[in-house]
Amino acid sequence: MITGGRRLNGTIAISGMKNAALPILFACALNRETCVLQNVPSVSDVLTTLSILEEMGVSIEWRSPTTVAINAAGFRPCTSPDALVDKIRASSYLMGVELGICGRTRIAYPGGCKIGTARPLNYHTSGFEIMGAEMETNGYGFHGEAPNGLHEGKITFDSPSVGATVNIILAAVLTPGVTTIINAAREPHIVALGNFLNMCGAKVTGAGTSEIHIEGVSALHGCTYPIIPDMIEAGTYMAAVAGTGGCVTLTGVIPKHLESVTSKLRDMGVDVEEGEDSITVSSNGQLKAAQITTAPYPGFPTDMQPQFGVLLAVANGAGIIQEKVWEQRFAYLDELARMGASVPYNSFTAFTPGNQKLHASSVTATDLRGGAAMVIAALIAEGTTEIKNIHYIDRGYDNLIGKLREVGACIVREEVFLESTPLSAGSSS
Ligand code: UD1
Repeated sequence: MITGGRRLNGTIAISGMKNAALPILFACALNRETCVLQNVPSVSDVLTTLSILEEMGVSIEWRSPTTVAINAAGFRPCTSPDALVDKIRASSYLMGVELGICGRTRIAYPGGCKIGTARPLNYHTSGFEIMGAEMETNGYGFHGEAPNGLHEGKITFDSPSVGATVNIILAAVLTPGVTTIINAAREPHIVALGNFLNMCGAKVTGAGTSEIHIEGVSALHGCTYPIIPDMIEAGTYMAAVAGTGGCVTLTGVIPKHLESVTSKLRDMGVDVEEGEDSITVSSNGQLKAAQITTAPYPGFPTDMQPQFGVLLAVANGAGIIQEKVWEQRFAYLDELARMGASVPYNSFTAFTPGNQKLHASSVTATDLRGGAAMVIAALIAEGTTEIKNIHYIDRGYDNLIGKLREVGACIVREEVFLESTPLSAGSSS
């Protein structure tokens, strides 16, 4: 429940990046020694990943609320729990890990937010096939065999996929020879994965460019590694302050990762000042219209599109959003319509007329970032808005309610227990 119309002022500490933590957690399964990860965000996708690894024989020890020690000496490939694999998209990374360790993989279909019609994994499986695995998909999920183990390969993606780049790196780390990825994703989380693996003794070069080389090593050793800050969490709070007005400093960020977001906010009349590891956003809540086109990094992130969709709806004048990464990423606009904003859209384009006045309503989080967009809309709207299905938001925002309260937002979480729901199920909405 959010009562909007208040300016946000103060400081928010940014947590570790979910989309860096997930591949790094799965990468720990390649290592027989203990890895200590710091700055791990408390988000449900991370907790699900840890549960998957634990059920596969990995030992997990929390040493502080943000530090976890992982020892995968007892990792049992091909034993992943279907019900948990089905909860998150990143469980697809088990394919690369299992093939790299034993030349065999078996996983149920990974889950994740429904932001594309199919969210295909064909780049992943074709890459494994180039490395010598026979891949099969069936009613259950994915199955792969490389009877003699994987071998090096040269893999070219049609477009830069984050997940496929991660999966091929994971498969190649312990595979003899040099595997090359052409047209690799260049996101900061790919660089983070490469840095983490290299600290464990892997030989990954070129992460952060579109050509990555992975020279296989025989084994990895343990290390201590801090997860990089979450640029999408930071960008979401930047958008929130831009919309409500106020002045908020985000600490523990890497401003370079946010350049495309910063530059768009400046175009919209928002003042953004970059420090060494902080960003201060000041806004009077009056936004100029803009055009947004999403693209792989370093372009404008698709994971910031819904949050900016809300800003463009209330901005002074007409704008346009072109979504170039995922089709069907405008479902949140139907929810925004319940708050009074009429924004027509088709699969890849939304036409924002601007000057829309938001009013409080009851809305639903359609997915993780669509949920974040509803939070921003509710913070802007006068009155009290109810957001349902907030388990989506829990997937990727660490302590969102506490952090927003710290800067003056009026926001509470209400646990709703249905009469027919056993209390132990902890069902909330
Ligand atoms: C990751 C992020 C997600 C983000 C996306 C793009 C995680 C857990 N999720 O998702 O939040 O929105 O990157 O930045 O890190 N594609 C194919 N075939 C494939 C793989 C991808 O056609 O085998 C296409 C997809 O349909 C999509 C595009 O490539 O159009 C990008 O997908 P990808 O980068 O793989 O996204 P994810 O890794 O799933």
